[in-house]
Amino acid sequence: MKHLTIGEIVAKNILYADVFQKNKIDFCCKGNVPLEEAVQKKGIDINTILHELGKIDSQPEHELNYESMSLTELINIIEHTFHAYIRNETPDLLFMLKKIKSVHGGNHPELIKLFELFSESNEDLSHHMYKEEHVLFSYIKSLEEAPKTVSQQFDSITSPIHVLKQEHEHEGDLFEKMRLLTNDYTPPMDACNTYKLAFHKLKEFEEMLHKHIHLENNILFPKSVTLEKHLIQ
Ligand SMILES: [Fe+2]
Ligand SMILES: [Fe+2]
Repeated sequence: MKHLTIGEIVAKNILYADVFQKNKIDFCCKGNVPLEEAVQKKGIDINTILHELGKIDSQPEHELNYESMSLTELINIIEHTFHAYIRNETPDLLFMLKKIKSVHGGNHPELIKLFELFSESNEDLSHHMYKEEHVLFSYIKSLEEAPKTVSQQFDSITSPIHVLKQEHEHEGDLFEKMRLLTNDYTPPMDACNTYKLAFHKLKEFEEMLHKHIHLENNILFPKSVTLEKHLIQ
């Protein structure tokens, strides 16, 4: 592997590009450099990169039983996995979408709209997650952990949940538009590696968002409504 060029490695699996992206190694326009040489230039240990590349092939999907955990545990998973994913991945995605928009926007004008839609989603999501973490989630945690000390912040928990669910719907609409615009995130024949990786990551981002919204809409929110009702009675 170490004698192959970055471009040859990425051609084997586009997901490898993520490792190079994170380590600021050019896998796109200047990808014609052997891995060994590229890491040396960056002063990175080649074994670290080989280890990260190896992890791509062996990522197991852990299915947790979200239904049976406490609301506090579920909130911790939502924050540490799904909110953290959005915060970690968004800067790279914005960077890549901006780059392909300026390089390929002439032949593919849909990239201009795509960048606008993702930027809008990014702004909405950061406000949305802030509200969840600082208002609703902290309230639910106190309801579960120390109900007697909770001061009533809303008439009912259903009001903030109603707003958050509307925002989820809006996010779903934005990604629906992005999917239509990109023909289900299918890169065109003339796409470079950054283009391919950006579409791949966008698809993954949408899948993570759907799972995230499912956990909130279908498990966390209804269970919180039930808990609040039970405590008020
Ligand atoms: Fe969330
Ligand atoms: Fe949410």
